[in-house]
Amino acid sequence: MKEKICVTRPYRFCAAHRLHTNALPDDVNRKIYDKCNNPNGHGHNYTVFVTVTGELDPKTGDVTDVEALDRLVNRKIVERFDHRHLNHDPAFQQVVTTGENLVKFIWDELVNDVPVGQLEKIGLIETRDNYFEYQESVLSEPQAT
Ligand code: NI
Repeated sequence: MKEKICVTRPYRFCAAHRLHTNALPDDVNRKIYDKCNNPNGHGHNYTVFVTVTGELDPKTGDVTDVEALDRLVNRKIVERFDHRHLNHDPAFQQVVTTGENLVKFIWDELVNDVPVGQLEKIGLIETRDNYFEYQESVLSEPQAT
């Protein structure tokens, strides 16, 4: 069995959002999303956990370049969302700003740009009781023949 070593870094941003889909009538939106459908929106202090795995460098003892990862996540995620209204972001014009959709979006933004190693998982704390995760399923990888 091959070893796997992961590094996780937390990043934080504060943002407003409103859970609402134009695909459903207003009364259904209110029923599904309840107070999160409030037309004025509401805010969260989000924490994003970015987990990277890679080959252990025997000289440095590292699997990734943490400073380069910080620069990437700050540039592509934190600066984009911090103190913004997520529903105004171009990525969320047709996509509801749920935690599920946010972790998927953050994964897609980072997956091809991780400086050293590979993206393993994205975690997102939205509230004390809401935590979301995205990772690629092992089952979706091509099977060896
Ligand atoms: Ni919310």
